[in-house]
Amino acid sequence: MRGSLLAGFMTWQLLKVVMACLAHSWTCSGLLLIWHLLLMPAIAKATLVSYKPNIVIFLADDLGIGDVGSYGNDTIRTPNIDRLAKEGVKLTQHISAAPLCSPSRAAFLTGRYPIRSGTDQTDVFRVLQWLGSSGGLPANETTFAKILQKQGYTTGLIGKWHQGVNCKYRNDHCHHPLNHGFDYYYGMPFSLMGDCRVTDPPEMNMPLRIKLWCYTQIIALAVFTLIAAKLAHLVFISWKFIFLLTLFGSLFFISWFSSYGFIRYWNCIMMRNYEITEQPMKVERTAPLMLKEAMSFVERNKEGPFLLFVSFLHVHTSLVTTEKFTGKSKHGLYGDNVEEMDFMIGRILDVLDNNNLTNSTLVYFTSDNGGHLEAQERNARWGGWNGIYKGGKAIAGWEGGIRVPGLFRWMGVLPEHKVIDEPTSLMDVFPTLVNLAGGTVPQDRIIDGRDLMPLLQGLVQHSEHEFMFHYCGILLHAVRWHQKDSGNVWKAHYVTPIFQPKGSGGCYDIRFCPCSGERVEHHNPALLFDLSRDPSEEVPLSPETEPLFHMVLKKIEKVVEEHRTTLTPVPQQLSFYNSLWNPWLQPCCGTFPFCGCDKEKEKREHF
Ligand SMILES: *[C@@H]1O[C@H](CO)[C@@H](O)[C@H](O)[C@H]1NC(C)=O
Ligand SMILES: *[C@@H]1O[C@H](CO)[C@@H](O)[C@H](O)[C@H]1NC(C)=O
Ligand SMILES: *[C@@H]1O[C@H](CO)[C@@H](O)[C@H](O)[C@H]1NC(C)=O
Ligand SMILES: *[C@@H]1O[C@H](CO)[C@@H](O)[C@H](O)[C@H]1NC(C)=O
Repeated sequence: MRGSLLAGFMTWQLLKVVMACLAHSWTCSGLLLIWHLLLMPAIAKATLVSYKPNIVIFLADDLGIGDVGSYGNDTIRTPNIDRLAKEGVKLTQHISAAPLCSPSRAAFLTGRYPIRSGTDQTDVFRVLQWLGSSGGLPANETTFAKILQKQGYTTGLIGKWHQGVNCKYRNDHCHHPLNHGFDYYYGMPFSLMGDCRVTDPPEMNMPLRIKLWCYTQIIALAVFTLIAAKLAHLVFISWKFIFLLTLFGSLFFISWFSSYGFIRYWNCIMMRNYEITEQPMKVERTAPLMLKEAMSFVERNKEGPFLLFVSFLHVHTSLVTTEKFTGKSKHGLYGDNVEEMDFMIGRILDVLDNNNLTNSTLVYFTSDNGGHLEAQERNARWGGWNGIYKGGKAIAGWEGGIRVPGLFRWMGVLPEHKVIDEPTSLMDVFPTLVNLAGGTVPQDRIIDGRDLMPLLQGLVQHSEHEFMFHYCGILLHAVRWHQKDSGNVWKAHYVTPIFQPKGSGGCYDIRFCPCSGERVEHHNPALLFDLSRDPSEEVPLSPETEPLFHMVLKKIEKVVEEHRTTLTPVPQQLSFYNSLWNPWLQPCCGTFPFCGCDKEKEKREHF
């Protein structure tokens, strides 16, 4: 701060001298200019960032912006997250690049829209489905961790990854965190999905299992008989029918197969670096183990500089919560889970305090996308709450899917208790951290994030984001335009999902709103809102109600055209082929297919 003021003052003085000199002699001004060029950058750099701060990132999974005390929730208890808001900067228009985990996290790690790295896809599978599939964050993408590592940081990731593991064979680890800039990894390389819990959903009972196997056999027999009969021209049945029958049979087979808990074995594992520590994992003890790992990472690396990325399995379904927090909140299991995560954050902040690291550590808190409205179990809400914003997880256009909490704390450097309403992106973390570490962002590719430090420090009034593109998979659903001179935040929607029930803000019949097909509506002209006046996107503007209507849409269309020219085709990480389960890519503890181990047996399992 003082450095930049000094730099500004000196530049001004210098300009005055240069002007005066210009009138007299060219030599004089030339000499001064050389002096200026040599000295100024040194002064500016040395005083603005005099040391490399430690970095701690807390990333929640599917947490809604309305679930946090400091964002207006008065019944959920999040004192530790709120402490970050009190001691730092709260962003109210913090936007994720995608409304689902795999693409949102890929963008977060690389500072680029997911479409640039091929980590998003429309409708087939928008997130990785198997740990044993070949898709993931491409090895030639550069994460902020990779650059920080080069700048002398010790980098650690604790928790969820969901960016793939292998590409071509079982242990090539091409997508693994250790191949993406992390020195240390402990966590779940996949995502906490329903199948990971032994009791929930309950394992299929034996009679049903036998029945399914029986059906599979009968259908297989029928298919073979029909094929034989058709080839011998004995029956007139279409290939389509045989195909459907086969498909049906396969489904029964998969259900039967999965009933043995195989999905749990394939996807629900824990790793320490390249080693599998639990297969399948015992989800009940994962949170205590993660917390312990995060705390000891800080202790081990307190000499700094370090980057600790805590990527929570909270608050994704199935909301695994320890006994200590179960039944304690006012919002059922979901609230319990949020409060448990807050507790974990508090413990890690304590470690910073106890080691006198608080003032030399930049702490950041966010969520990968909005709360999942449609998540319900046993008549209870299992998903997050997005406050006044419409829509939720999986929906790219409406604010509820992409507007998430964003808190930055760096005491002594950033202001305390400050609120910033400017549009910012999770992708901004990439250049912000790279610059703080003294590195440079890659020059051979487009980086969509912008350095947040000047905005957070209050050196500038506006964020650098004038336009933001809201992709649903690879389809552009909406565009935001922050018109800086007027303060308007326009948003044009080209495509919106069709809610079921109407007006509910979600697709409750199918659990996730799709990006295309029959369940979306196309708008021409686009639906236009001004978020600065109508943050809930209730009433679309029209040429009658908004004199600038045509001007705004025209401007946005022009920018979209320019944006499209910056896109280049890349391999699709979530293509059908890349999303298949491959036995030869399946991480396996033991001899495939007899995978299974538990190396955490001796470990404490409670907070
Ligand atoms: C607080 O969060 C809970 C749980 O998501 C939600 O049900 C409730 O409506 C929220 N309260 C406010 C005031 O936003
Ligand atoms: C705590 O850290 C600050 C720098 O952040 C340093 O000036 C101070 O001496 C440290 N105090 C102790 C007790 O180590
Ligand atoms: C940390 O920064 C705060 C705010 O600037 C200051 O009040 C406090 O004394 C600092 N603590 C240490 C240990 O330097
Ligand atoms: C990574 O490799 C793919 C495939 O060769 C290429 O299309 C893409 O442009 C590369 N990305 C970067 C950032 O170099």
